[in-house]
Amino acid sequence: MKRCFYCTRKPIVYLRYADLQLCEIHFINYLENRVRKTIEKYNMIKSGDKILIAVSGGKDSTTLLHILYKLAKEYNFILHGLTIDLGIERYRSYIQVAINNYKKLGVNYTIFDLKKEYGFSLDDAVKVFTNRKPCSICGIIKRYIINEYAYDNNFDRIATGHTLDDITGLLLFHILRGNISYLPKLSPVLETKHKMVTRIKPLIETYEKDIELYARLKSFSIDTNKCPYYHNAIISFYKRIMDKIERKSPSTKILFLRSTLKRINPYVKGILEIQNIKMCKKCGMPTTKEICSFCRIRQVTLNGQQVK
Ligand code: AMP
Ligand code: FES
Ligand code: ZN
Ligand code: ZN
Repeated sequence: MKRCFYCTRKPIVYLRYADLQLCEIHFINYLENRVRKTIEKYNMIKSGDKILIAVSGGKDSTTLLHILYKLAKEYNFILHGLTIDLGIERYRSYIQVAINNYKKLGVNYTIFDLKKEYGFSLDDAVKVFTNRKPCSICGIIKRYIINEYAYDNNFDRIATGHTLDDITGLLLFHILRGNISYLPKLSPVLETKHKMVTRIKPLIETYEKDIELYARLKSFSIDTNKCPYYHNAIISFYKRIMDKIERKSPSTKILFLRSTLKRINPYVKGILEIQNIKMCKKCGMPTTKEICSFCRIRQVTLNGQQVK
């Protein structure tokens, strides 16, 4: 009879990439340890850190919130949640889900209302930038707000829920296009530079399938609604290709991630050094242009002109 690798209980999962059958208890331990090992291996957290976790209400960042909450005492750090209300009219459920999780754990949090703070919503911007993928505009807005909030409030680190699947999908996409200068942004830890707060990805070595199972076993409240703009995400196409490769050849994702990181790491600092960083003329945040992408999106959207 099949049994768990560590005990005599019945297995609930077989992890092909590790050739492991695990019962519920040992799977939960395994996943939490995997995240702990990632944090330690890449030196993601220091004692006394003030960490801002960006929570979208989805399975990945919600799971990260629960795991970091568990680790906060062990590693001695302060955890604060940030959820951005992007102002997507047909997609608001994630905000309440995030609040429910913060409240359940007793984690302090901020809901950042884009429309209220900056006068425009993602819906407004999408109507104006008809030639751009909504997800790319959304990405610029999210990165800007999360960094600005962390910087203004003296956070030491920003934790996001990016998974092994996200990052290998992005790696494939950028490598195929030769966008080498983008690769450093996919590192597990992106160090502070100028006014950019250090970003960490504690789930970078964890498979989404495992996160999903963990979240289900733990009965987390998770937003399963999809953003109406999501189907435009080109990255999901590359993630599906990586899924196919992984099915044929288990553990490819983790090997791809580690081997690529090893090779790009020596260049990361160099690439970031040679980027000609200036201060945005409007907001003072770092950018490679005169006016940063966020301020440009905001300015054009508020002016209401159509960009074709
Ligand atoms: P995505 O860009 O949707 O793949 O999300 C990547 C990560 O960004 C998530 O794991 C979260 O940590 C963070 N994130 C996404 N959406 C939001 C949001 N609305 N508010 C705060 N953080 C978010
Ligand atoms: Fe960013 Fe949908 S949440 S485009
Ligand atoms: Zn077991
Ligand atoms: Zn700016």
